[in-house]
Amino acid sequence: MAEPKLRDLLPSTAEFRDAVFAGLSSDPKTLPTAYLYDETGARLFEAICTLDEYYPTRTEIAIMRDHAAAMARELGPRVRLVEPGAGALTKVRYLLAHLDDPVDFVPIDISIEQLENEARILAKEFPELPVHPVAADFTEAFALPPVDPPPARTVIYYPGSTIGNFLPEDQVAFLLRMRELIGSQGALLVGVDLYKDLSKLLPAYDDAAGVTAAFTKNLLARINRELDGTFDTGLFEHRASFEAEPSRVVLEAVSSVDQTVEVAGRSFHFAAGEAVRTEYSHKPTLEAFAKLAGTAGLLVRRVWTDEDDMFSVQLLEPAS
Ligand code: AVJ
Repeated sequence: MAEPKLRDLLPSTAEFRDAVFAGLSSDPKTLPTAYLYDETGARLFEAICTLDEYYPTRTEIAIMRDHAAAMARELGPRVRLVEPGAGALTKVRYLLAHLDDPVDFVPIDISIEQLENEARILAKEFPELPVHPVAADFTEAFALPPVDPPPARTVIYYPGSTIGNFLPEDQVAFLLRMRELIGSQGALLVGVDLYKDLSKLLPAYDDAAGVTAAFTKNLLARINRELDGTFDTGLFEHRASFEAEPSRVVLEAVSSVDQTVEVAGRSFHFAAGEAVRTEYSHKPTLEAFAKLAGTAGLLVRRVWTDEDDMFSVQLLEPAS
C-alpha cells in the first residue's frame, strides 16, 4: 500500500472554514484550538516552552529525567511504545534510554515530513530500536502496524499535558479509544498538568514578553491569511483567566471595540468586551483526573510529580 501524502492528512481549507464558522456562531464564541499550530504558531509555541513563566515543559522534562528509570521498570520488558502527536520526540528519549528490550517505537503525527526526519535522527541514537512512524490524525481512528515478535504490552506515551486542551468529555473519549488500542495488558503514560495557585498558573498563560498573546493572535492572523478574514489584531487583547468546575485556564481574544469581522464572506459581530475562546488548558487535581480516567475504565497505577506537585506523569492501566 502506498504511503499517504502529507497533504492528505492536513485538514482542508473547507474544514478550517467550517470549524471557524461553527465556532464564531456559538455562544460564547470559540475558535478551533488545533489550528493554533501553523508554522508561525508552532514556532511561537516553542518560544512559550522556554519562557520563565511557562513551568510545564521544564517541569515535565525534570520528572522524566528523574523518574524515567522507575517508569521503565514499571512498564517491564518487550514494550511496544506508541507516541501520538509525536513532534520533536524530546521527552520520549528519557524513557527509551531506560526501556528493557523494547519491541519497537511508533511515533504518530500528521506532519509526515517532520515525523520521518525525527524518526531518522532517533533511529541513529538508538540503533537497536526498530522505529515505525505512522502518519495519522490520532484524534480519529487509526490502526497500529503489525510487529514481530509480538510485544508483551503496548504502551501509549502522551506527554505535554496535551490532553488538557480537550473538553472533559473529549478527554474521556480519547482515553476510551486509547484503552481499546492497548488491549487488556496495555498501559498509558500521560503527562497531566495540575491545579495550583493562580499566581503561578495565570502568568504561564499571560507572559510578560507577550509571546502567548502573539500565539493567540496568530490564530486570528491565520484566519485572515487562509480564509480571507478581516481581523484587526490590534483591536483584540489576549486574556488568560481561571474557571472552576471544570478547573481550567481559558485563553481568549477580547474585542476592545464594537466591531464586525468578515471571514470567507460571512460577517460576525463582536460587542465591545466580547471574547472569542481559543483554548482551554484543564488543570485537574490528582483526584479529579483519577475520576476522569476511571470514567474511561482506566485505573491510575502510579503518579510521578516534581517536588512542588506542579505537574504529573501518570501510569494508567485498564481497570479490569
Ligand atoms: C500544548 C496544550 C499543553 O495548555 O499549556 C501553552 C498549550 N497554549 N500556552 C498548554 C499552550 C498557550 C499547552 N499545551
